[in-house]
Amino acid sequence: MVSENPTLNRLVASMGLSPTMAGAAAIACHPDPVDLSIGEPEGPPPLCVREAAAAAALEGRTRYGPVAGLPELRDQVAQDLSHRDGVAYTQENVIITSGGKAAILDALRCVLNPGDEVLIFAPYWPSFRDQVVLAGGVPVIVPFGEDYLPTLANLEGSFGALTKAVILNQPSNPTGCVWDATRIQVLAQLVQRYCAWIIVDQVYGTLTLERPETPFLRQVPELQDRCIVVESFSKRFAMTGYRLGAAAGPLPLIGAMVSLASNSVTHPSMVSQHAGIAALGMDGKWEQAMVTSLRKRRDRMMGELDGLSGLRLHPPKGALYLFPNITDWLVDHGVANDIEFVRRLREESGVKVLPGSVFGAKGHFRISYAGPETEVWEGLRRLRVFLKSRSVCAMAKIGIER
Ligand SMILES: Cc1ncc(COP(=O)(O)O)c(C=O)c1O
Repeated sequence: MVSENPTLNRLVASMGLSPTMAGAAAIACHPDPVDLSIGEPEGPPPLCVREAAAAAALEGRTRYGPVAGLPELRDQVAQDLSHRDGVAYTQENVIITSGGKAAILDALRCVLNPGDEVLIFAPYWPSFRDQVVLAGGVPVIVPFGEDYLPTLANLEGSFGALTKAVILNQPSNPTGCVWDATRIQVLAQLVQRYCAWIIVDQVYGTLTLERPETPFLRQVPELQDRCIVVESFSKRFAMTGYRLGAAAGPLPLIGAMVSLASNSVTHPSMVSQHAGIAALGMDGKWEQAMVTSLRKRRDRMMGELDGLSGLRLHPPKGALYLFPNITDWLVDHGVANDIEFVRRLREESGVKVLPGSVFGAKGHFRISYAGPETEVWEGLRRLRVFLKSRSVCAMAKIGIER
């Protein structure tokens, strides 16, 4: 007789739901919740994208296709990246993936052997850490300095004999930071010295709000042969649910990723790939309008939060988020930590944001300015009230008149 239940894979079982997904799924005990936890642009994708998806579905262009993706789409991605990153890519350097997330995981699975170390810079997107573990590697978290980037000493000290890869994400989720030229040069030298791969996640690259965009390879083109550039249609074209992304890199690596995909997802949905062709075929005006709108939102949110007692702000250069430091506010108000802050904000004001701890930065929270505008401003209004009224409560508690 069998007495025990079958067990799960250890790595997956230790992991749980991605913190960003779990945060969005958390139920607010509030009659009118407002979700500012998700990094998802407002509204549907451009009309031509939706029309292309509908046409592909209606016309039955939905049979199995090439594992690496439709040649036309690969070619468009290669041209787009060659133009933006200033290096030469052809379609052979590109694989189309089911979102940027899958591109990063597959790249890690193709380069890591068990026990290999991968450097991740805090504050980081939490899936980086979990994906490294899933791929059999060991995440090494590099701490951040005052400007939310690693100090040169920390950068240098993190590399070692086991370093196999580095993940660089800029503009960063959650801080919106972009690395300066000095740090990029030092990083590039270290990556070469330690013979490591570098995965450059530029899913927010076109959402750089302080133009121009300065992609990694444009600054250090000599690293092209050890660099895997990850792209996504999710944020750039508001195509989150289409699950479409891409990776570009040297031929042996892309070949390995194609073999892997041929034994797993095969390729992303054909409907999405046809939609992707329409997206990259646009003239850029739709994207410009999105960047203009995001810049206005960032500036307004910064303006309305600036000067609030206990909050420290670092202006993001891109992406969709603010990442305020609330360490002083927590102390002033006797709130234990950022997780407790997020819970109370959700339950008392119905506003969902994410705690900094899940990004490797305690005492912070991430708030998105990308969602439906009415919700963003309503959420911001409630957040301000929460921050201020709790100040009044705290003062009242210790008997101080304001
Ligand atoms: C830094 C970063 N990389 C990659 C992704 C993956 O995006 P997708 O899989 O939707 O392309 C996200 C999504 O939030 C992200 O924030």
